[in-house]
Amino acid sequence: MAATGSEKQGATAYYVSTPIYYVNDAPHLGHAYTTVAGDVLTRWHRQRGEKVWYLTGTDEHGQKIMRTAEANDVTPQAWCDKLVEEAWKPLWEHLNIANDDFIRTTEKRHTDRVQEFVQDLYDKGEIYKGGYEGPYCVGCEEYKLPGDLIDGEGEFAGQKLCPIHKKPVELLKEENYFFKLSEYGPKLLEFYAANPDFIQPESARNEVVNFVEQGLQDLSISRSTFDWGVPVPWDPKHVIYVWVDALLNYATAVGYGANQEKFDGTFPADVHLIGKDILRFHSVIWPAMLMAQGLPLPGKVVANGWLMVGGEKMSKSNLTGIKPQDLTSHFGVDAYRWYFLRAISYGSDGSFSWEDFSARYTSELANDYGNLASRVAAMVGKYFGGSLPEATAAGDAERAVQEGLAKAVATADAKIGEELDFQGGILAIFDFVKRVNGYITEQEPWKVAKDTTPEGQARLATILYTAAESLRGVAVLLNAVMPETSQKLWESLGAEESLGALADQKVQDAGAWGTLPAGATVTKGAVLFPRLEEKPA
Ligand code: ME8
Ligand code: MG
Repeated sequence: MAATGSEKQGATAYYVSTPIYYVNDAPHLGHAYTTVAGDVLTRWHRQRGEKVWYLTGTDEHGQKIMRTAEANDVTPQAWCDKLVEEAWKPLWEHLNIANDDFIRTTEKRHTDRVQEFVQDLYDKGEIYKGGYEGPYCVGCEEYKLPGDLIDGEGEFAGQKLCPIHKKPVELLKEENYFFKLSEYGPKLLEFYAANPDFIQPESARNEVVNFVEQGLQDLSISRSTFDWGVPVPWDPKHVIYVWVDALLNYATAVGYGANQEKFDGTFPADVHLIGKDILRFHSVIWPAMLMAQGLPLPGKVVANGWLMVGGEKMSKSNLTGIKPQDLTSHFGVDAYRWYFLRAISYGSDGSFSWEDFSARYTSELANDYGNLASRVAAMVGKYFGGSLPEATAAGDAERAVQEGLAKAVATADAKIGEELDFQGGILAIFDFVKRVNGYITEQEPWKVAKDTTPEGQARLATILYTAAESLRGVAVLLNAVMPETSQKLWESLGAEESLGALADQKVQDAGAWGTLPAGATVTKGAVLFPRLEEKPA
């Protein structure tokens, strides 16, 4: 059987992960931003016909979770169970996230393998016992270098603060186990040089290279002052450092040490999606852990920028976390999935504004896209009784539209599928939508309809076929971003009946002109983007 480029990768899945999020609180827009991006990326690859594995989950050990549970008078496990079941999983369902698995670090399939991994490193001489004293940020669950800290002001005057959480650090002094991270600096630099795309965007890559060039310290990988974690197998008074535990989810979730076939067919990740706050963990510590174990390294670590509120990173600890549901209840789930990827260049910071979201919803989604879909369906109804006519009189204007679709397909496939430039890909698709609107404005089908000669009717048929076929392509291209809306459009074009399931339409074939057959039953479906209600008070 002839294989296309993507199918040739054959047995191994295109494996994408999100961070596993801390369950000290409910998810906010920032978490959803990374998870939606991963969902769009993996839906896109699935729709190329590739085998895909999309993983998300929760990070449940460590001091931060333990303290939250204590403050709420429940056990850490009970706290995690409640948050996972009542907040995290329901949100991903609500946002239509099609993850293939959800890993929790308190699951036995994870903790057993974490112990084995760490024991292996110990047996290989990669881990030794030592002492450490330094400033620790519980928000980050990380020892900080004194040079990374900022001076506190106001209530924190005279104290040193974590630059991310803007909270005082704690001085920790412990005897614990260390991983010989310092030995991996040269190997990591060699790897970054040989794989210039490994860390994205460029700014993130530069930051990491500079950091590693300054020399790495060994990494403390156990804690003995609290017990909410995975016990160190050879010294169970210690628990494994929460970040070592957490990073290993990317291996344990795909069968590390348990299901070799699954592991070989999935690991390592093609793309680890993260926010730039956790860049060093993913591009320094994680690869070094894998090198130490002789395991293959991931394809890419791609860091998104921060969603900002009032000039600060939106966060639980700053109490600036906005719930995604506060926006989806007003704008709808699909518009929500679209908005952040459309408005912010992936990798850059961006501010959320209700006004900007409203304005873009109305002009780009409702007016440009939604109206186009409803006008075309209405005209096919009015002039051809809802049966898609044949295009027998195509000319230059039609050829330009066909070329426009082919170009949108190629650009979107490169930008969304390869470069993770979601904004660029979405813009290419919406430029095409604008072009089709322009085509209809120029062709004026409502005037051509008055010409009852066979030539006039052939022109009218050709214009409406061209518009409907264009929308068929748009439905396929936007399916990864706005699956519910694309499905509505797909059904209204009669495509479900004539071409089968939308998810089975290959994105790379979306520009194959003439796919929607004449005779398809076009109906005026549901409004794609209803007018927004007044902004809630
Ligand atoms: O760091 N803007 O979990 P976490 C954009 N458990 N993205 C944001 C964001 C914002 N304002 N706020 C959060 C952890 N994120 C660890 C991860 S992985 C082995 C362990 C997103 O709950 C972004 O992806 O603090 C960021 O990296 C992640 O949430 C941090 O989530
Ligand atoms: Mg965090």
